[in-house]
Amino acid sequence: MPRGLFITLEGLDGSGKTTQIKRLATWLQNHSLDPVVTRQPGGTPTGDRIRALLLDSRSAALAPMTEMALMFADRAQSIAEIIEPALAAGKIVLCDRFTDSTEAYQGGGRELGSQVVLDLHRLICGNLQPDLTLLLLPSLQASLQRARSRNHRHTEQTGQDENRFEQEQDAFYQRVWQKYRDIAAREPDRIVLIEGNLGIDEVHEQIVEAVSERLITAGHTR
Ligand code: TMP
Repeated sequence: MPRGLFITLEGLDGSGKTTQIKRLATWLQNHSLDPVVTRQPGGTPTGDRIRALLLDSRSAALAPMTEMALMFADRAQSIAEIIEPALAAGKIVLCDRFTDSTEAYQGGGRELGSQVVLDLHRLICGNLQPDLTLLLLPSLQASLQRARSRNHRHTEQTGQDENRFEQEQDAFYQRVWQKYRDIAAREPDRIVLIEGNLGIDEVHEQIVEAVSERLITAGHTR
């Protein structure tokens, strides 16, 4: 059984990742390539509990190292329970965020640096690398505006509080943004950077182009 394809989506909060992952999943289904779709933090029963702890504003006193350790605890569970079994079964895995998020948010935003994130990734995640990463980077202002209004709606509708990161100052997000750009510059073969305030359809087209190329290279039929 040939190994599957591991695709991750990355970007700031409010960059449109969740919309795009749904569109990409539908596109793959229409081409008879049923993907396994997951997200981090979350996606497994244990991970969903870790997610609630991480994103709830009542966890305000979380130390940066604790935050990073919880992100990796969630990721280890997601790899063991979802990602590795799916890849071993030859499936395409679409994952909403992976270790680039930890490097950008904890390494950049929290200023823990890249090295500790890359070291932990090797130790805890067996250095598993995505075959392709789609990095959505619309302008910082547009992303933040969208994320903040969306999360308040989500809290009003569900009672779930996922606002802890949105309460960060713009300087935090500026560092996250810069770190994402640094990662993209370091790994141009893996990461496709989709920049600017593009429409949903335009972003989808660019994603489909990048994914089609990878599918052909990896020998998956379209
Ligand atoms: P989401 O809203 O895209 O699901 O992401 C939840 C939040 O968690 C988002 O603000 C980014 C943050 N995050 C990190 O800080 N580090 C990580 O490793 C991951 C996966 C997410």
